[in-house]
Amino acid sequence: WAEIGHLDKAAAGRSVLVRATAEAVYRGSKTKNVAFLKLRQVLSTVQCVLAGSAQMMLFALSLPKESIVVVEGAVALLDEPLSYTTVQEVEIKVRKLYCISRADPKLPISVEDAGRSAAEFAKAEAKGVPLPRVGQETRLDYRVIDVRTPTGQAIFRVQHQVENKFREYLSARDFIGIHTPKLISGSSEGGAAVFKLEYKNGKSACLAQSPQLHKQMAICGGFRRVFEVGHVFRAEDSNTHRHLCEFVGLDAEMEIMRHYFEVCDIVDGLFIEIFRHLNENCKRELEAINRQYPFEPLKYLERTLRLSYEEGIQMLKEAGTEIEPMADLNTEAEKKLGQLVREKYDTEFFILYRYPLAARPFYTMPCYENPAYSNSFDVFLRGEEIISGAQRIHEPKLLAKRAAEHGIGMSSIKSYIDSFSYGTPPHGGFGVGLERVVMLFCGLHNVRLASLFPRDPQRLSP
Ligand code: 4AD
Repeated sequence: WAEIGHLDKAAAGRSVLVRATAEAVYRGSKTKNVAFLKLRQVLSTVQCVLAGSAQMMLFALSLPKESIVVVEGAVALLDEPLSYTTVQEVEIKVRKLYCISRADPKLPISVEDAGRSAAEFAKAEAKGVPLPRVGQETRLDYRVIDVRTPTGQAIFRVQHQVENKFREYLSARDFIGIHTPKLISGSSEGGAAVFKLEYKNGKSACLAQSPQLHKQMAICGGFRRVFEVGHVFRAEDSNTHRHLCEFVGLDAEMEIMRHYFEVCDIVDGLFIEIFRHLNENCKRELEAINRQYPFEPLKYLERTLRLSYEEGIQMLKEAGTEIEPMADLNTEAEKKLGQLVREKYDTEFFILYRYPLAARPFYTMPCYENPAYSNSFDVFLRGEEIISGAQRIHEPKLLAKRAAEHGIGMSSIKSYIDSFSYGTPPHGGFGVGLERVVMLFCGLHNVRLASLFPRDPQRLSP
C-alpha cells in the first residue's frame, strides 16, 4: 500500500496499490478515451489516468464523489505539474480500479464548497457567478464531510501536535500524567456554569468544570508535579466565538519553591517550544489553513513578556478604555490590551499577573504583601485568554474561609479541604483550553473549527 503524500519522483516506475477518496472524476478533454480520477488522502491529492479499457473508464465516470476506491497502477513522471494536485511530480497510470465504499451521489454538502476561501468567493462574485456558500451550522451538522477539507485535516493535525508537545515538554521536566474523575460531587470552579446530574443512591453529581480540585489533591498525595489532558465541562450560556460546553483542558500543577513565577517559567518555556515546533514542523498544515482562512504568523518573544495587571490597566486607561476597577477584563478590554501590547512590545503572546483577588476563584492564593491582589496570572494570545494560572491556598483554614466567602458549601468540598491538613507543600498550576490555542495560533474566527464535534448551548450532535 502506498501513501499519496509519499509519492515523489523516486517512486516513478513503481507499481503501487492506493486506497483513497475519489475527489473528482472527469473525461479527458483532448483525448476521448481517457478519464482522470483525482484521489485524496488527508492533505494530499494525486491524479490517476485511466486509459485503454472503456469498461474501466465508464465505471470510473459512474463513481460518486467521495467514494472510497482502490487503484492498482504504475507511478509515472509528469511532464507538466498540475496545479490542482498536491503531489505534483507524478501521476498514477491505473491498471485496476475497485470501489470499496460507494458514497451517496447526493451528498448533503460538498467538500469543495466547504473548503473554499474568501478569496475564491470574491473572485467568483466579481465574475458574476457566485459560488454556493455552506453555512457553519450545516457544516457542523455534516462534520464528517466538513473535516475532509485540507483545512479540516490540517487543524486537527496541528491540535495533535500541541497536545503531544504539552505531554512531551512536561514529562521531560519530571511531571507525570494523571487522570482525575470527571464525575464529582460539587462544582470545581464555583459559579453557575456546571452540569448537574443524578448519581447513584440518591446522590447528585456534577461534571467536572476542570481537574482543579483533584490535581491539587494529587500534590497533596506526594506527586510533586502532575499534568492532565482531559475533557472539561462548562454549562456556559455564552453563545460566543470562543465558548464551548465541553472542551479539552491541558492542566498542570506543581510544587513552588520560592515564587509563583516558577509556574510562569514553565508556561513560558512550554509555549515557546510549541510555537517553534508548529512553525517548523507543521508548514503544510499551516499553509492549508492559511489558504482558506488567511492569517499572519504569530508574533512572540523568545522570553515571554510579563506585565502586571496594574500595568495593563494603566495602558488601557491611557488609551481611553473604561474598565471596572479591580475586576476581570472583559472580551473587549482583552482585545484592546492585546492590540496595545502588540504595538508597544511587538508581541501577541504575553502574561498578565497579579490579578485582583476578587476576580479569581476561591482557591487562589492572596498576595502576601497586599491581599487585595492575588498570586495569579492569565496568558493572552492574539488578544484573547488561553490560560489561567495561580498559586493555590495550601492552608486549610484560609481555604475554608475563602470557600465560605464565595458561598461554596463545605459538604461538597470537605474532602478537598481536609486534604491540606495532612502536610501539603506550596504549589500552583495552570489550565489551558486546547481548542482556543489552536483557534488563536491559526488565526481562526471560531473555536468550533478547532473542535472535532463541538458542544455548545445549541448543539449536542453529531
Ligand atoms: O480560566 P479557566 O476557567 O481556569 C481554570 O479552569 C483553572 N482551574 C485553571 C488553573 O489551573 N488555574 O479555564 C482555563 C482555560 C481558559 O484560559 C480558556 O483557554 C479555556 O480554559 N476555557 C474555555 N475554552 C472553551 N470554552 C470554554 N467555555 C472555556 N472556558 C475556559
